[in-house]
Amino acid sequence: LLARAVTGDLVIPDFPSFTADITGIYQNLLDDRRGAVADYIPQLKRVPPDQFAVAVCTVDGQRFSIGDAGVGFCVQSVCKPINYSLTLEEHGAEVVHRHVGREPSGRGFNELSVNGDGLPHNPMINSGAIMSCSLIKPDLAVADRFDYVADTWRALSGGSPVGFNNAVYLSERQTADRNFALGYFMREHGAFPAGTDLIETLEFYFQCCSIELDAGGLASVAATLANGGMMPLTSDQVFSTESVQKCLSLMSSCGMYDYSGEFAFTIGLPAKSGVSGALMLVIPQVMGIAIWSPRLDALGNSVRGIEFCRQLVEKYNFHIY
Ligand code: DON
Repeated sequence: LLARAVTGDLVIPDFPSFTADITGIYQNLLDDRRGAVADYIPQLKRVPPDQFAVAVCTVDGQRFSIGDAGVGFCVQSVCKPINYSLTLEEHGAEVVHRHVGREPSGRGFNELSVNGDGLPHNPMINSGAIMSCSLIKPDLAVADRFDYVADTWRALSGGSPVGFNNAVYLSERQTADRNFALGYFMREHGAFPAGTDLIETLEFYFQCCSIELDAGGLASVAATLANGGMMPLTSDQVFSTESVQKCLSLMSSCGMYDYSGEFAFTIGLPAKSGVSGALMLVIPQVMGIAIWSPRLDALGNSVRGIEFCRQLVEKYNFHIY
C-alpha cells in the first residue's frame, strides 16, 4: 500500500475525497426509515432497525467505514456466494453444476421449485444454497465443516473477527419449515449427491447463515472478491480467479432476489443481499463495499443498501458496461 501511495499507483488516488462522497451519501440516507426488518426469523426481528453502516476496502487495501461499522450482524444469504465458491474450489464447476443450475429463477428466494432437470435454479437462492452446503467437505465431521467455512470467512476478511449468532441459528432452525420442504423436494427429485444427510445439510446451511461479522469485515470480503480471490491486506489467494469469476457472474444475474435484473440494469455490479439487511457490493478490480441496514423493502433487500448503491453509481460511473 505504501509503495503504491508513493508511486501514485493507488486505484483510488484521492481517497479522502472519495470517502467524503461516501459520507455524503450515508448522511443523505440517515433519515430514510422506509421498510421493515425481516420478521420470519424471530430473533432477527429484535435487531434495532435503524442501525446503518457503510464500509469500503479497495483492492490495494485502503479502508474506510462510517456509522455502526463495529456492530456485528448475521450474513444470512450473503453466505451463498461464499459457499458456492467453496464448492467450486473443492469439486470444479462441472461437478458442482450436476447438482445446481445457473439461471435466474425469476421467483422468490424460497420458492418451492426446481428447474427442468430437477435441480435448484442457481446457488444464490435457498434451494441452491442448501445444495452448496451438501457439497462442502461432506466427509468431515459437522464441527469441522463449520470450522472450515468460518476459517474461510476469516481468510477472506483478512482476519476480521468472525462470530456465530447461536440464538439466530436456533431461532431459524425452529422456524424453517420452508427450507425443510425445499430439502425434501430436492431429495424427491434426486438432486443431492449420493449419501447426503439432509438434516445435517440443512442445519449446516442455517449455521452458515448465522455467521456474524461487522461491515468492515464484510467490505474486506467483498474486496477479496473484487481482487480475483486474493485478500488485499494479506495477499492470501483464498479463492482462485476462476471460482471468483463464476461467483461474480451469478451474483450479477441472481444476487439480489427478484430485483436482480433491475439491479444489473441500473447499478451494473455484482452484489449479494441478505435478510439481515446486509448488502455486499463488488466493484471488480477496484473495491468491495458493505452496507448494512436492517430495514428491508418488499423484495427483501435493504432499503438504504439499494439506495446507497444507486447514489454511488450516480456519482461514480462504476457500472461495468
Ligand atoms: O434461508 C433463509 O431463510 C435465511 N437464512 C436466508 C435468507 C436470505 O437472506 C435470503 N436470501 N436470498
